[in-house]
Amino acid sequence: MKLYIKTFGCQMNMYDSARIRDTLAILGYTETDSPEEADIILLNTCHIREKASEKLFSEIGRLVKFKKEHTLMIVAGCVVQADGEELLKRAHAVDIAVGPQSYHKLPELITKYNRKKGRIAVTDFPAESKFDYLPPIQAIGASAFLAVQEGCDHFCSYCVVPYTRGCEYSRSATEIMDEARQLVKTGAKEIMLLGQNVNGWHGEGARDLGDIIRMIADIDGLERIRYTTSYPSEMTENIITAHRDVPKLMPYIHLPIQSGSNAVLKAMNRQYDRDGYLRISERFRAVRPDIAISSDFIVGFPGETDKDFEDTLDLVQRVGYASSFSFKFSARPGTPASIMKNQIREEVKTERLIRLQDLLLSQQKQFNVNTVGKELDILLIENGKEKGQISGYTPYLQNTHIAADESLLGQIVRVKIESATATSLGGRLVKA
Ligand code: SAH
Ligand code: SF4
Ligand code: F3S
Repeated sequence: MKLYIKTFGCQMNMYDSARIRDTLAILGYTETDSPEEADIILLNTCHIREKASEKLFSEIGRLVKFKKEHTLMIVAGCVVQADGEELLKRAHAVDIAVGPQSYHKLPELITKYNRKKGRIAVTDFPAESKFDYLPPIQAIGASAFLAVQEGCDHFCSYCVVPYTRGCEYSRSATEIMDEARQLVKTGAKEIMLLGQNVNGWHGEGARDLGDIIRMIADIDGLERIRYTTSYPSEMTENIITAHRDVPKLMPYIHLPIQSGSNAVLKAMNRQYDRDGYLRISERFRAVRPDIAISSDFIVGFPGETDKDFEDTLDLVQRVGYASSFSFKFSARPGTPASIMKNQIREEVKTERLIRLQDLLLSQQKQFNVNTVGKELDILLIENGKEKGQISGYTPYLQNTHIAADESLLGQIVRVKIESATATSLGGRLVKA
């Protein structure tokens, strides 16, 4: 039996898809990349911006023609949590809809499913943790995700995540260690610790994420550790100094600021101001001067003035980012910001986004150009676009292509960087 699975949204959703794949493997489903031959078509969805949500419906429209009599169409993820019943009403092809905290129930739901008795949406937040019911994790390549924390208690005024993922939950240190060992045993060289608010981790068995990083660094065979996404004001000194003390921890920190204006940050309900953010980023640079800092930005938040936007550009100049994601504010149903009075016109949002992205892209290019001539370690992950080319990542998460044989995939090699664009590097193998 075949499973076709398509994932939208963030890395947490990619992690969930991998766990869903392993769960359904027990029922005998193997993955296929062609929906024609699938017995289950599964879409793992994202609700973060309107565009992300709308993509689901166009995707269902595209895939429905591959649905045969016996094919099950399953929708998982954040759209389901936000709007499961509505989704079943709007998309008749969907058989089962399951929220992000309930996908461990899929084997039972699938086995018992009978369309005539009614289609199903499971959107409760179950008392049990799904992690206790999932089969042991398997690494699929050299780089693996590990969810250590889920959910969010911050309630930024624009964001749906606290509603779709629920309140903050941290897995225990023991559980995380076991899963990290299992990932390394099945081939992972790099582990990316995931959480919607990862540096707010407060589970059993360790003081904070800094301790967790130090603990997993002891696993033999694990070469690289990363973590994302961090909330600026919850950063701890123990995490920052891990960048000085733990050689396996990569010199990269994703620290979303959203806006450089204090008035906008306040309206967003972000619990820090621009000076506080600058102090934290300077602290990272003090312990690890070469660290790459990245961020997320929202432009056109309700009430954002030209001056507020200029403050964001000014902050970007001050910090100097290695890479970034930036978005136009999207009014999400149920969030306080969606009903704020002073919404910004679409043309203004577009114009601001273009200006911000120009600046961010030029910084990103500069960061990449600065590595030309250096020798860096690259973890090789996948085949490149051209034949005879493979690609991977520097410690600073720069995508790098080299001419080399596929047999090197999964290894860390020394590469002399010879060229750079805003989005990637090119280099030559120094030694394997
Ligand atoms: N927990 C992370 C963010 C998770 S969502 C944090 O607080 O930094 C990823 C990014 O999507 C956010 O950083 C934000 O920039 C963007 N985003 C979230 N809601 C949005 C909205 N309603 N409109 C536009 N962008 C949004
Ligand atoms: Fe959303 Fe804010 Fe939580 Fe990030 S911190 S997930 S932006 S509510
Ligand atoms: Fe999207 Fe849910 Fe992630 S809304 S960004 S898939 S937490």
